[in-house]
Amino acid sequence: MSAEIIDGKAIAEQVRADVAEKAAELKKTGIIPCLAVILVGENPASVSYVTGKQKALAEAGMADKSVRLPENTTEDELLALIDRLNKDDTVHGILVQLPLPKHINEDRVIMAIDPKKDVDGFHPVNVGNLMIGRKSFLPCTPHGVVVLLKKMNIETSGKHCVIIGRSNIVGKPLALLMAQREVNSTVTICHTGTKNLAEITKQADILVAAVGHPSTVTRDMVKPGAVVIDVGVNRIPDETKKSGFRLVGDVDFDAVSETASYITPVPKGVGPMTIAMLMVNTLEAAENTLNK
Ligand code: GUN
Repeated sequence: MSAEIIDGKAIAEQVRADVAEKAAELKKTGIIPCLAVILVGENPASVSYVTGKQKALAEAGMADKSVRLPENTTEDELLALIDRLNKDDTVHGILVQLPLPKHINEDRVIMAIDPKKDVDGFHPVNVGNLMIGRKSFLPCTPHGVVVLLKKMNIETSGKHCVIIGRSNIVGKPLALLMAQREVNSTVTICHTGTKNLAEITKQADILVAAVGHPSTVTRDMVKPGAVVIDVGVNRIPDETKKSGFRLVGDVDFDAVSETASYITPVPKGVGPMTIAMLMVNTLEAAENTLNK
């Protein structure tokens, strides 16, 4: 058997086209959805992600008040910028690209963002609201995974979803989303402390890898017919590429695609969905100001 490849790029394009239409509608009321993406330093992966986000904003007809700051920016300077953006009524969403340089406390920065503008869904208020099933901004990558499954008509109810990875950005929020009543999966979270990882992953109907290490999921760890979602984005050296690297996920794609029923590729799988869901959240943040 050979797995069907989930075309995250195409699904993300549909989502973004829908957002562009709704943003055009909103503009008739005088509101132009606006996002400020803040990048501190020049981490090459972060520069690439931020550029992708800005391109998506332009394509959706949304305003872009992004700011790029030097590596040596102080925490106080960053907090002052966030304060200004919090108070700026023309800015609906604020996203601080992570990771931040080591001298800046990430937690303090996330806490400084107005939860109403926290389109990443990282502020404790939004995390807490998600936990107890109240309306909140959903973190983009986990939300993107759920939308991919839905758009592919993949049954999630009663299925066993095994997630490898317990990060605040992906593993933990995805576990909550998959367990919510509308998705209705049984969820297991695996992590570095998990014993007999393969024994657990082989029980998965839906297996999600969100670790950040290539070849974490090998063919022997996957039940035949399972759905495999690869959230990993790893740069590995490749002299045949102009950039000197290529992107691979956390899953041994070639071998696993021989046994899975569906699989997401890297690139063009989950990655484009993260950006698409950010556009959804930015639109929502702007729409929310209508009812103020
Ligand atoms: N770094 C990696 N993923 C993300 C994300 O979804 N949001 C932010 N702000 N930073 C990230």
